[in-house]
Amino acid sequence: MPLARPIVFGNWKMHGLRADALALAGDLARRSARLSATLGVFPPATVLAEVARRVADTAILVGGQDCHDEPEGPYTGCISAPMLKDAGARAVILGHSERRHGFGESDELVCRKARAAIDAGLLVVLCIGETEEEWLAGRRFEVLARQLDGSLPANAGADSLVIAYEPVWAIGTGRIPELEDIRETHAWLRHQLSHRLADGAGTGLLYGGSVKAANAAEIMAQPEVDGVLVGGASLDAEEFWRIYTAGGGA
Ligand code: 13P
Repeated sequence: MPLARPIVFGNWKMHGLRADALALAGDLARRSARLSATLGVFPPATVLAEVARRVADTAILVGGQDCHDEPEGPYTGCISAPMLKDAGARAVILGHSERRHGFGESDELVCRKARAAIDAGLLVVLCIGETEEEWLAGRRFEVLARQLDGSLPANAGADSLVIAYEPVWAIGTGRIPELEDIRETHAWLRHQLSHRLADGAGTGLLYGGSVKAANAAEIMAQPEVDGVLVGGASLDAEEFWRIYTAGGGA
């Protein structure tokens, strides 16, 4: 079943010792007995199981931030998709720019991880986005097409995949593209997905990068923007909830 719109996901990144993570999850759970739309949190793996238990009575979705491309094996320090699922995850973020650029992850590796995650029954939140240099050089669509070519797994469908467009230069910087640019990129992405996937028209398409309560409504009002992937502002329950309601969630 397609996810109810708006889709508002919070990527906690490497933030959250137990006390803070559970307080944040508890605060969100109190607001979320019933949800009209889709709200999800992606905590660090160390607290994922406890966060999942804390929100178990709600419709809040919990996900991991990365996974290995094999289900198990001699890979010290790594976590597999079935392990995330076993810990209570329903989704996983893959191909985030902090992994593509910080850890040198290739499109090909991201694709293998995505295939493994879908095989394990997880929803993949596949991140793509151009760097500032590529943006300034007018290479946005070329980069996004290459990332889609290389990292979209063949087993993906609207039930198992959400795409997050995150311009690298907008992540954690307080800068966002002009609304017109977001509109143009998302229209282009929708067109691409419609051609590349059997149900691309129904695949969730998110914007990410410096989303706050103050700009969330106008971003989510753009055509083809089904929701947002939020970093820093998702660490504050009140701010994150205001982003969710700004998109029409209740
Ligand atoms: P910020 O919202 O902190 O810019 O981070 C966005 C992001 O990387 C979400 O995955």
